[in-house]
Amino acid sequence: QKGTLEDRYGRVHNYLRISLTDNCNFRCSYCMPEEDISSMPNAKLMQVEEINILAKKFVSLGINKIRLTGGEPLVRKEFPLILAQLAELPVELTLTSNGVFIDKFIESFKTAGLKKVNISLDTLNADTFYKLTKRDQFSQVWNNIQLLLKHQFRVKINVVALNGIIEKEILDFIAITKELPIHVRFIEFMPFAGNYWNKDKVFTAAKMLQMIREEYEIMKLQDDPNDTAKAYQVKGHMGTFAFITTMSEHFCGTCNRLRLTADGKMKNCLFGKDEMDLLGALRAGDNIDPLIKIAVGKKHAALGGQISTDYTLASADKIENRSMIKIGG
Ligand code: GTP
Ligand code: 5AD
Ligand code: SF4
Repeated sequence: QKGTLEDRYGRVHNYLRISLTDNCNFRCSYCMPEEDISSMPNAKLMQVEEINILAKKFVSLGINKIRLTGGEPLVRKEFPLILAQLAELPVELTLTSNGVFIDKFIESFKTAGLKKVNISLDTLNADTFYKLTKRDQFSQVWNNIQLLLKHQFRVKINVVALNGIIEKEILDFIAITKELPIHVRFIEFMPFAGNYWNKDKVFTAAKMLQMIREEYEIMKLQDDPNDTAKAYQVKGHMGTFAFITTMSEHFCGTCNRLRLTADGKMKNCLFGKDEMDLLGALRAGDNIDPLIKIAVGKKHAALGGQISTDYTLASADKIENRSMIKIGG
């Protein structure tokens, strides 16, 4: 049974990202369009038991890593229940969160055996934080990052590289890797519905790397085969830094990821327009496994097939998608 989620390009899928909600306590405009902040009614969401059933189907087909995403996964009321359920499966459990509620759930993480947490944090400045998120909670997030480290979690910080902010802060982010065993990843800004993406807003990894090299002596680290990020380290620093180069140099050739949206639609790619309604099928009593395989079979070589593999940044303007908050990152 194992390893059966192979696509036309020979890519084997073992990593499932499950979005638990399209709700979030923040209001970041690159993720959540201002014109549509409404979230889905509860009846449309996968219910606790439905998440369990669907996750088990994927596991039986070879999934061995599950990441919980959102929106913000920790605002889902039944989060502890969902986590405890998934902890019974033979998978590595991981989480991507904005960090505000970590202290409330850290004990349930431990009980579930969750060891790796990725925190979204685009600035180290409290005023800029407020401008980006419309919430005055920088210190909660920062304290929760310290708390995770104190409890020996492996912590990555996701920094969306935003023009006008990243130039000022990139070296501050590198500086925090000196004394903290923290992994900072700079993500190139990606186009999603309602986020006013254009190519001039993409601060490329190459530019960031150049800025870092002017200040620090750095070395390239070995990446795992399916990593989204290209990792580096400043000599002598405890932590590392990396770049997620979706826009300047995609990594689709080694993609092992599938997604379930909060409303139970399977996406075979972050940029894929095709959605397979697994929740609808489950509620109708249909057989799920063949549907998962069909969806994997339709996966495109790169970027959802929306732009050619040898694309230029400008052509990414054409990408149509849900907003990030309704996909789950
Ligand atoms: P690790 O398991 O720690 O490597 O995390 P991850 O990178 O898989 O997950 P995370 O939720 O932290 O995502 C970080 C960034 O990488 C987000 O901006 C994601 O949208 C982006 N990302 C994650 N998976 C994919 C993917 O399959 N394709 C692309 N293009 N970007 C992705
Ligand atoms: N471009 C790049 N990354 C994004 N994220 C959200 N929106 C975007 C975007 N438009 C990141 C968040 C989170 C991760 C799941 O996706 O910072 O860490
Ligand atoms: Fe995989 Fe699609 Fe992301 Fe490429 S864009 S890495 S194919 S999910």
